[in-house]
Amino acid sequence: MGRAVVILDFDVRPNRKPLSHTDRQALLSAPVFGKVFTDHMITLRWDAERGWHDGRLEEFQSIALPPSASVFHYGQEIFEGMKAYRQQGGSIALFRPERNAARFNASARRLAMPEIPVETFVRAIELLVRQDRQWVPHGAGTSLYLRPFMIATEPTLGFTLPSRSYLFCVIACPASAYFSTRTGPPALTVWLSQEYARAASGGTGAAKAGGNYAAAFLAQREAVDRGCDQVVWLDAVEHTWVEEMGGMNLCFVQQSAADEPASLMTPALTGTLLPGVTRDSLLQLSGRLGLGRSEGRINVQQWRKQCEAGQITEVFACGTAAVIAPVGRVRGASDEWTIGDGRPGPVTMRLRDELLGIQYGRIPDDLGWTRIVC
Ligand code: COI
Repeated sequence: MGRAVVILDFDVRPNRKPLSHTDRQALLSAPVFGKVFTDHMITLRWDAERGWHDGRLEEFQSIALPPSASVFHYGQEIFEGMKAYRQQGGSIALFRPERNAARFNASARRLAMPEIPVETFVRAIELLVRQDRQWVPHGAGTSLYLRPFMIATEPTLGFTLPSRSYLFCVIACPASAYFSTRTGPPALTVWLSQEYARAASGGTGAAKAGGNYAAAFLAQREAVDRGCDQVVWLDAVEHTWVEEMGGMNLCFVQQSAADEPASLMTPALTGTLLPGVTRDSLLQLSGRLGLGRSEGRINVQQWRKQCEAGQITEVFACGTAAVIAPVGRVRGASDEWTIGDGRPGPVTMRLRDELLGIQYGRIPDDLGWTRIVC
């Protein structure tokens, strides 16, 4: 027998004072990531007695919680990052939203939080995008960034069992390219963090949990203090195996000989890495573009040696917010080197064009990744 599909409904309560057309257009002309939010948000509550209930689309507003709410003390919080794209022809599309829903539920399981039916998660996102469609910017490389998240709301300092109530919420903000210059994405300089680790075996590294990001700020600040753009995380045991960059996955373009096809290698999902939707999409696209692809492992020494031998020609990070961020230079406490000529490479840019082409509807989506919302 097939699984019964439960889709919860949302009570639609439109904002009575949405931003004026003129004010919105002014904000949309140069959207800065994560600063300005649309007129509406989604809320949905869960408690042990009623399960998911009280779904609403309502005015974007502050959340009132007692200071004893569990999230403030034990950080039980998970989130997702997704985008709505204004496609050629004017329709608005989501990109593989079920993958975000599935990862959200995987994060929920790890943080002992309730799972949300995939169909309800996707419906919530679609409802918000449809309601706030005029907030999806038109400019090249712009999108509406969606941030679904869930917090523990039980008013208790008790630490015996997980919270018995939760709030799921989706907010949205118009966004332009996360890292950008006038001519495209810049090549970043990255800092090898050898003192701190992002995740260890058995921990929460594979979950998109706020706590992972809270613990990352110190190393990110160290990276900036060392003149770098982002931190590269190494494994927690030997402090040498490459895991991630900031909040993104890392990919290495390898070429063993000039007449060999280039190959994309990304660190395998060992349980300490976030299973990125962009990472997965690029692995699939690289096959279509005639590149080899593998999930493996690489340490700092190998990274440097292979760059010097011309066997690693390009490196980039990937994630929803930044899409693809080329890496040009690597700096560690006692080591520094350049990747290729230090500029964004052709394979990186080809993959970026292909992915963005599908997301913005410039390239036919024969993989069925885009979902037209309106
Ligand atoms: C995303 O790429 O959507 C993320 O969640 C990264 C975030 C740190 C901006």
